[in-house]
Amino acid sequence: MAKLTLFSGTANLLLADAVASTLGTALGECSIERFPDDEIRVTVHMDIQGHDVYLVQPTCPPVAAHFLELMFLADACQRAGASRLTAVIPYYGYARQDRRERQGEAVAARVIADALCTRFNRVIAVDLHSPAIEGFFDIPVVHLSAVPLLADSLRSFLFSDQVVTAPDLGAVKVAQKYADLLGLPVAYAHKVRLSGRKTEVHQIIGDVRARSPIVVDDMISTGGTMISTIEELLKRGCSPRLTLVASHGLFVENALERLSAYPVERVLVTDSVPPPSAPASPSVQIISLKNLLAEAIRRLHVS
Ligand code: R5P
Repeated sequence: MAKLTLFSGTANLLLADAVASTLGTALGECSIERFPDDEIRVTVHMDIQGHDVYLVQPTCPPVAAHFLELMFLADACQRAGASRLTAVIPYYGYARQDRRERQGEAVAARVIADALCTRFNRVIAVDLHSPAIEGFFDIPVVHLSAVPLLADSLRSFLFSDQVVTAPDLGAVKVAQKYADLLGLPVAYAHKVRLSGRKTEVHQIIGDVRARSPIVVDDMISTGGTMISTIEELLKRGCSPRLTLVASHGLFVENALERLSAYPVERVLVTDSVPPPSAPASPSVQIISLKNLLAEAIRRLHVS
């Protein structure tokens, strides 16, 4: 059987290292240098001739640089003789540009998929913004979900008055999954995006009065979606004891500080991207993807 070798880009070394240890190995030796003009140089420093190689790299901010590192690593590994290359992408940047909202727009998620298909034999991804993205690839995609892991962690602080809430129509299916796993009712918000930073919630469907919402989404970026949902839930008399859950916690532009102005008891996210240096409130709990990813790699390596 081909030897298994794991490399990491610079996006989330802690997670890559944890996945490697779970698999009983260490990360492969490579270097990623940045030149003064921002160019990136990637070098593999070991013999990987004939190896089954996995490159761990979430394409989180700075998205373009992390994506290029991944592509350059793939090129370096191909040239060094890897027999099979798998991209392990715990967070897929540009996933939200998966269709044309307006005339003239690019479908960036497709462009990224096309580029990955030129270098990789397979992709492992976690909670893609839309499952349709899988169809952009003509190589096999293992699409993992962190929802069961996050739902398990929610079990330790379940109250009978909770309601799972989807902050927009795109999150309805995922909210239903949490609700089924936890045996809770579900409510839906109708969100309108005004810009990259600003969203408005126009309506909440479902009973939220005097209930403690668990607002679930695939990702928290600026926190704008969560904030407009929280404001609308509070207006509708929900109990001031909120939990926020997302597979990917990017927390850009002081999202956590802005969220701390609301009665949010806890925020649950995975380590698909590096955890934030969090303010004391709200408390952020990080659930590791290391076992989920290691198990997927183990299965692919023997298959
Ligand atoms: C959008 O459809 C996504 O599912 C999230 O709701 C959104 O991207 C979160 O972004 P932000 O935190 O910036 O509102």
